[in-house]
Formats: sequence, structure tokens, C-alpha cells
Amino acid sequence: MLGSARPLTLDPRSRRLLLAMLVGAFCLQTWLIYSDPIGREHPPLSAAATRGRALYHSHNCQSCHQIFGFGGFLGPDLTNLARRRGDTESLARDLTQILTTGSERMPAFKLSDGERSDLASFFTELDRLGVGQVRITETPPAKDIFKTLIAEYAQHDPLTPEAAEGLWLVEQAGCINCHLPNGRSTFAATDLTKLHSQLSEDQLRSVLTEGIPEKGMPAMKLQPTQFESLLAFLAWLDRQGPDLRQGFHDAENASGGSLLDLPWFEYR
Ligand code: HEC
Ligand code: HEC
Repeated sequence: MLGSARPLTLDPRSRRLLLAMLVGAFCLQTWLIYSDPIGREHPPLSAAATRGRALYHSHNCQSCHQIFGFGGFLGPDLTNLARRRGDTESLARDLTQILTTGSERMPAFKLSDGERSDLASFFTELDRLGVGQVRITETPPAKDIFKTLIAEYAQHDPLTPEAAEGLWLVEQAGCINCHLPNGRSTFAATDLTKLHSQLSEDQLRSVLTEGIPEKGMPAMKLQPTQFESLLAFLAWLDRQGPDLRQGFHDAENASGGSLLDLPWFEYR
């Protein structure tokens, strides 16, 4: 009998099995959602620890120390200080020692016994939240930001084969290393995205063949067709100029890592 599908029938055993599986899946999902296995839920800090946290901030400890990857690099990460110190007593003793006398690179702090004990509570409770990993926020080299942006913009405004060869030449010759789109390039080299509009073809040709040795601009040996490719790419860059410069500016700022974004443990 073509065209009429057989209704799906299950024997009672299979039906019970299917039902059990569905109920099981529901329970598993509920457990995953509410049990918080990755540990977002923690008991709130005690009053003493909260005072300790306030001291930590008001004395700018975070300018040199990290907690869960947020903060400075001069001193060691303090997320798991308590764990490293063993028990509360030795933690309090070490804190007293380092905070009252300081060290070569860490200033001494005038704190009362009560304040030091609040800090000790903070570090003890902080340690229970998890293991901190030092995060190194390093700005990628400017030329890498520039290259990434060029690749991104080429998706919207594809490079002609000629301009693509120009890009290749620019990368080979290292123009990108010196002519960044931010006016802060090495030796104050002109913004590469502005060369096409600021210089005539003849000027470009003569700068490239002769270089400007006294200013650090190397001379290049370019074939005539290579010069044309370079021009095509510089024209493309010129077209993308305003967006590229803005994008470069934003990327530079963003990669600096913003310590202003408060992580969750700061406001709990
Ligand atoms: C100017 C930077 C700076 C500031 C500000 C600073 N520290 Fe430090 N801290 C250091 C350095 C550097 C060390 C490593 C000790 C050394 O080698 O001198 C250190 C070590 C420590 C240690 C010992 C860590 C360990 O694992 O042995 C503790 C605890 C500590 N600091 C707590 C604090 C607290 C709490 C504050 C704020 C009240 C603070 N620090 C402010 C730079 C700083
Ligand atoms: C080692 C760094 C460096 C490299 C690599 C480099 N330049 Fe330069 N370039 C400079 C400096 C420095 C100047 C001088 C800026 C000035 O006049 O003050 C300059 C000047 C120029 C000028 C003249 C700009 C003006 O405003 O008069 C042009 C055009 C130019 N470079 C193009 C290029 C191109 C295209 C490449 C790659 C094929 C390249 N440069 C590679 C450093 C470099």
C-alpha cells in the first residue's frame, strides 16, 4: 500500500524504556542547570572577608597582584595565597610580616591587627572559590593587528590580483612594520593608508627606488610591474583608510585588556 505510512507502534517494553530515557534526560538537564557543576555559585563572603576585600581595593593591592587573572604583574598571584600558606595562622603571620615591613619591591602598609585579620579572611575565602591562573594580557604586535584588519576588510572589498600582489610585496618588504596607521610608527613613518593620496606616483617611485636613508626608509628594488601592484594595493588601502584607521585604534585599545570590566567576584 503506497502512500500510507505505518503508524509508529511500540510494544509496552520499548515504550517504558523510551519514557524512562526521556525522564532521565529531563532529570540530567535539571541537575546540570541547578547544580552548577562549574561552580558559579558560592556562599557570599563573610563580613570580615568583605572588609578585607575593601582593604585590598583601597590599598591598590591589585595594581601589582592578580586575583583570578585580574590585576597587575609585579607581585605574585594572590588567588590561592591561603592554599600556599597552609593554615590560617601561618597566613596571618606571613601577612603581618610582608605588610608591615614590605620588601624591596612591595611597599609596607600601616594596617591594624584587625585589618590584617580581615585581609587574611578575604584570602582564605577567596582561595575556596577556585584556582587562579595568571593571565598575561599582552598587546599583539601592531603589525599583526594591521595585517588582521587588512585580511578582514579584504573580505568586504576583495583585492584584485594586482592589489593582492601589492599586499604580498608590502609584507615582504616590511612596510607594515614601519608605516602603521596610527601616526605613531617607528621613526614617525607616514601612515601607509595615506601614502596614495598624499604622494604623486612619481614621488612614490623616487622614494621607493632611492629610499630616505637618513630617516630610516630603505631603498627597494622593484620591477615596473611590481610598482604597479604596489600602487594598486596602496589605492585599496586609501579607500579603506578611514575604517582601517578607526579599526586599528579600536583593536589597539581592546587588546590592552580592560581592567575596568569588573569580574563576577568583585561585586558579589
Ligand atoms: C607596588 C607593588 C605592590 C603592591 C601595591 C602590593 N604588593 Fe604585595 N607584593 C609585591 C611584590 C613584588 C611581592 C613579591 C615579594 C618580593 O619579591 O618582593 C609581593 C608579595 C606579597 C605577598 C606574599 C605573596 C607570596 O605568595 O609569598 C603578599 C601576601 C602580598 N604581597 C600582599 C599584598 C597586599 C595585601 C597588598 C595590598 C595591601 C599588596 N601586597 C600590595 C608587590 C606589591
Ligand atoms: C624600516 C622602516 C621602513 C620600512 C620597512 C619602509 N619604510 Fe617607508 N619610510 C620610513 C621612514 C622612517 C620614512 C620617512 C618619513 C618622513 O619623511 O619623515 C619613510 C618614508 C616613506 C615614504 C615617503 C613618505 C612621505 O610622507 O614623504 C613612502 C612613500 C614610503 N616610505 C613607502 C614605503 C613603502 C611602500 C614601503 C614598503 C615597500 C616602505 N616605505 C618601507 C620607514 C620605512
